[in-house]
Amino acid sequence: MSKKKIKEIFIGSNNKGKLKEIADLLPKSLKIYSNLDFKIPSPAETGTTFTQNSLLKARYFSKRTSKICLSDDSGIEIDILDKAPGVYSADWSGKKRNFNLAIKKVYKEISKKDKNWKKKRLSARFICVLTIFWPNGKFISKIGKIEGRISNFKRGKNGFGYDPIFIPKGKRLTFGEMDPYKKYSIDHRFNAFKKIKKFF
Ligand code: IMP
Repeated sequence: MSKKKIKEIFIGSNNKGKLKEIADLLPKSLKIYSNLDFKIPSPAETGTTFTQNSLLKARYFSKRTSKICLSDDSGIEIDILDKAPGVYSADWSGKKRNFNLAIKKVYKEISKKDKNWKKKRLSARFICVLTIFWPNGKFISKIGKIEGRISNFKRGKNGFGYDPIFIPKGKRLTFGEMDPYKKYSIDHRFNAFKKIKKFF
């Protein structure tokens, strides 16, 4: 990897929620490119771990753009579901990426495991692996997590994906109810970003 500070970067994601959050973490002086300008289709996420998929995306977008690329692979692990949906978090929302469907599926699968689940605290965590991939083939991947629990029902309109059903540890609000900047300052993506910040 290069010791030189990165001056421009391509954010390799077609997920607008992630794109916004990652762009907000980066220094304002950095020139940011994204798929809003390039329209490159996403690669198939064939890995079985967050780290494999994060690297696969960063490498793919770097090869396609010849730029230094930053990619994220993330998802939610719910302990009672044996850590599902995990790397398949996006898949649970179907081809149209409908997260109302994904959340319905979460509640359905939880009910199958335990009918009385609403009386319990169901532990879960968001995980994010951020990878920087340089055109010379060097890369760095770092993981970030945030622990929490599943809300009994969907709450809040902020954020994206599973935000309305995740309550971070020590908080009362779901990520969907929280001010977005508050979420960005504590979440899995921020915790991964802290570990790669020095490159910017
Ligand atoms: P992927 O990294 O493209 O496989 O997608 C990960 C999926 O996990 C996203 O589509 C979201 O559904 C979910 N996810 C990841 N990070 C977050 C988050 O910060 N809030 C809510 N959902 C998230």
